[in-house]
Amino acid sequence: MAKMEVKTSLLDNMIGVGDMVLLEPLNEETFINNLKKRFDHNEIYTYIGSVVISVNPYRSLPIYSPEKVEDYRNRNFYELSPHIFALSDEAYRSLRDQDKDQCILITGESGAGKTEASKLVMSYVAAVCGKGAEVNQVKEQLLQSNPVLEAFGNAKTVRNDNSSRFGKYMDIEFDFKGDPLGGVISNYLLEKSRVVKQPRGERNFHVFYQLLSGASEELLNKLTLERDFSRYNYLSLDSAKVNGVDDAANFRTVRNAMQIVGFMDHEAESVLEVVAAVLKLGNIEFKPESRVNGLDESKIKDKNELKEICELTGIDQSVLERAFSFRTVEAKQEKVSTTLNVAQAYYARDALAKNLYSRLFSWLVNRINESIKAQTKVRKKVMGVLDIYGFEIFEDNSFEQFIINYCNEKLQQIFIELTLKEEQEEYIREGIEWTHIDYFNNAIICDLIENNTNGILAMLDEECLRPGTVTDETFLEKLNQVCATHQHFESRMSKSSRFLNDTSLPHSCFRIQHYAGKVLYQVEGFVDKNNDLLYRDLSQAMWKAGHTLIKSLFPEGNPAKINLKRPPTAGSQFKASVATLMKNLQTKNPNYIRCIKPNDKKAAHIFSEALVCHQIRYLGLLENVRVRRAGYAFRQAYEPCLERYKMLCKQTWPHWKGPARAGVEVLFNELEIPVEEYSFGRSKIFIRNPRTLFKLEDLRKQRLEDLATLIQKIYRGWKCRTHFLLMRKSQIVIAAWYRRYAQQKRYQQIKSSALVIQSYIRGWKARKILRELKHQKRCEEAATTIAAYWRGTQVRREYRKFFRANAGKKIYEFTLQRIVQKYFLEMKNKMPSLSPVDKNWPPRPYLFLDSTHKELKRIFHLWRCKKYRDQFTDQQKLIYEEKLEASELFKDKKALYPSSVGQPFQGAYLEINKNPKYKKLKDAIEEKIIIAEVVNKINRANGKSTSRIFLLTNNNLLLADQKSGQIKSEVPLVDVTKVSMSSQNDGFFAVHLKEGSEAASKGDFLFSSDHLIEMATKLYRTTLSQTKQKLNIEISDEFLVQFRQDKVCVKFIQGNQKNGSVPTCKRKNNRLLEVAVP
Ligand SMILES: Nc1ncnc2c1ncn2[C@@H]1O[C@H](COP(=O)(O)OP(=O)(O)OP(=O)(O)O)[C@@H](O)[C@H]1O
Ligand SMILES: [Mg+2]
Repeated sequence: MAKMEVKTSLLDNMIGVGDMVLLEPLNEETFINNLKKRFDHNEIYTYIGSVVISVNPYRSLPIYSPEKVEDYRNRNFYELSPHIFALSDEAYRSLRDQDKDQCILITGESGAGKTEASKLVMSYVAAVCGKGAEVNQVKEQLLQSNPVLEAFGNAKTVRNDNSSRFGKYMDIEFDFKGDPLGGVISNYLLEKSRVVKQPRGERNFHVFYQLLSGASEELLNKLTLERDFSRYNYLSLDSAKVNGVDDAANFRTVRNAMQIVGFMDHEAESVLEVVAAVLKLGNIEFKPESRVNGLDESKIKDKNELKEICELTGIDQSVLERAFSFRTVEAKQEKVSTTLNVAQAYYARDALAKNLYSRLFSWLVNRINESIKAQTKVRKKVMGVLDIYGFEIFEDNSFEQFIINYCNEKLQQIFIELTLKEEQEEYIREGIEWTHIDYFNNAIICDLIENNTNGILAMLDEECLRPGTVTDETFLEKLNQVCATHQHFESRMSKSSRFLNDTSLPHSCFRIQHYAGKVLYQVEGFVDKNNDLLYRDLSQAMWKAGHTLIKSLFPEGNPAKINLKRPPTAGSQFKASVATLMKNLQTKNPNYIRCIKPNDKKAAHIFSEALVCHQIRYLGLLENVRVRRAGYAFRQAYEPCLERYKMLCKQTWPHWKGPARAGVEVLFNELEIPVEEYSFGRSKIFIRNPRTLFKLEDLRKQRLEDLATLIQKIYRGWKCRTHFLLMRKSQIVIAAWYRRYAQQKRYQQIKSSALVIQSYIRGWKARKILRELKHQKRCEEAATTIAAYWRGTQVRREYRKFFRANAGKKIYEFTLQRIVQKYFLEMKNKMPSLSPVDKNWPPRPYLFLDSTHKELKRIFHLWRCKKYRDQFTDQQKLIYEEKLEASELFKDKKALYPSSVGQPFQGAYLEINKNPKYKKLKDAIEEKIIIAEVVNKINRANGKSTSRIFLLTNNNLLLADQKSGQIKSEVPLVDVTKVSMSSQNDGFFAVHLKEGSEAASKGDFLFSSDHLIEMATKLYRTTLSQTKQKLNIEISDEFLVQFRQDKVCVKFIQGNQKNGSVPTCKRKNNRLLEVAVP
């Protein structure tokens, strides 16, 4: 996602001032206070113009994240708060876009953060430059060269746990697009004396400790090493462990880095073998052995170590042993061999160890260069990063410190030259008048050291090459002679020393007043270290080694290439390489990072003002600010300046149409800034005094507030207006809807009212018309009637004369005939249905036809009944006859009758034929069975009932047992005299028998049956058909029955509800049997 570009400035949210040039007032105190204030707020970077001051925070700050990289990417230098990334970005973009080679000069004393800064620059550039597999590999290799070189070239010192003990300059090469192609590393003078001896509280190079801590047992065995540091003389023990440093883990990192950089496995192993050999060399010890000539000769104490070294390096043991005991000097084809005493033997051993290690280090740098060198021959753009050892002042300062400080002196020189030059050039470029500014130029000190005729280094070389006895003292004497008058040189013998009797200046010392302070150098060792002698026997022994790496490190040991010329001294070599470096730097656009160490304790949050003050002084930072401010404190291109301050003037706000410069002119005139306070360059405005800038800033801040208020006002207005408009719109919509609704409602009301009124009016109109029509009709009718009468009268009057006396009778008869005719015709159409039960009969039309009408009704009914009867089959007829008989016998006499009308008479309810139980009974009866039904026979004695099968045949009445079918009684019908029953709704009936008959011996029967009506009817009919006598049927609520001899009265009483809806029978006494009917 494209990030939104927000125009910001260094001046936004500044803590103190982000650029020291803006410091007001400018003095040492304010300078330090500003640094401290920023340091306390974790702002470790501050600018002096384009120079970055970096204060070592001694803790990791969250300001190097990938997000930060993105923040600073492609932003202008003064746009964000000061950061090393801003400088890196500026340098990279200037390289990529303006095709200017860059160099980044990182200076500061030991522990100030130079190496860290150089790594930050490299990682920033790596993060922002091109992408792609190949490019990424190059980047990785460039970045991974650091851990390898740090392991071999860095050591813990009292000032810095990871102090660079060599100078490093790395050229990173880019193609025209800005993609990295490769790099070249140059190394400067490794502090090799550290290999054999370390000051108190310091360590040897990291790699020794890393190897012993991190190597596997297998590797250690192979290198015949032991893990215990104390086994090795070259390792200082008091500070072998460094807090917060994991040597073992670092060893793995280094091995991994070597692999990434491109070391083959065997190469990495060879390197470790050399390291092991150096360590083991330190353990070789010598003892004196007297010789015949009275001189001492050294002998190796314990040859075991020597043997192991030789096995490791493939050197012939005797050759090496001899090299430690003899020294061969060759001069003009003459070889002179002298024995070495013990001291010389130790010197030879240490020289070998130092040489071996330093040559290994140079070999490593070359090997890395081989890996990282650009593969193409196209033109390259270069960014150089210089991380050189910082200015050092120790208690005992020797040749190394002298060399290191000389180098820093040169860097200061180039800083002064380039800064001033750049400043000056800018003024010229911009067409601004330049006034010279005084500053301390350390060229004089550089001259003291490097002058070819009488410089200290030249003196030293001269001494080293001079025949005769040469010692450090003779060198000092020479210095005293030549440099005595130099104002930056002091010694006991020099004239410029104001403290000739000062004991702080011992005899064997000289003092140089460097730009960064006075340093006292011990002259001891200067000659030796400058000579950097390695006995030829040793180099030859090394050349003979079977170990290819070691062999290649000592090419001068090849006897075929014996070179009698002395090799160049260390001093002159260094001077030459520094000169090359300076030349190189001068061709590039410089970018400065000046590192400052806040305290001596390597601790976070501590800001020692005295220490910082010292550094500020010798780094000349205040002068730097002054030079920067001498002309003009602040400068800015016209466009950003106008952009930043345009709101301060009506003409330029909000847009300026013309060129930016004219805009700035108008702006400054408007603001009435005194003309002497600023100058117009070609592309930039130059502001002389920071106060002016601050005034501008204040005005801007104020104006911004006003503008914010204005924007707020307009915004609020806009918001309210939009809100109001929205509300109005809504209100209109609502009103429209409401009006529509109201109108709709009103319309509907009017419409319905109109409809009502309309309907009334129409009704009224219709009625009126109807009335009129009716009236009209009536009038017409009346008229017709009147006309008819009138015509009748007329006709009658007319015809009267034609009628005879009986004409009236004829007319009457005719009319009557017509009426009767009409009556019959109409009756034909109005005939009711043929159902005999249909009671309908059309009304009588004429009164005089009343009797006819009734007669007609009767005839019609008889006719339709006949019609109805004619449809019946014989069987149906029989049934209806029976029903008719029952009706004649019981209708209106017995209450039970109506319920029997709807029930068809079935007769044989009990199917005796089908039930096998009654087979015997069936067989016993030969006649046709008319009734077969179960009845309750009332016990004569107690009124209780028993079920009996009641059978009626043509001649007999039979009673049989219900279960067995056995015949109990048989009564011929001729013996049945009477049947009695109540008039009520019960099924009780008595069958009276003829007195004296056989059946009557037991007395009359009293039954109760559900089909009383049917049974009585059938009994009546059968008796009639068989005996031709009508059976007497008595219907009475009280009758007598003959039980044996007694006459018992059966009495029916009503209303006893005790036994529900079933009639009950009870014998009350001899004469009375009571039946209760519900
Ligand atoms: N920007 C930083 N952030 C956090 N820690 C830092 C930073 N810069 C330096 N340090 C700390 O300070 C220590 C010393 O820094 P560095 O090794 O860069 O110093 P130097 O200037 O290279 O010293 P020398 O001259 O001895 O090599 C580092 O090991 C690290 O712990
Ligand atoms: Mg360093």
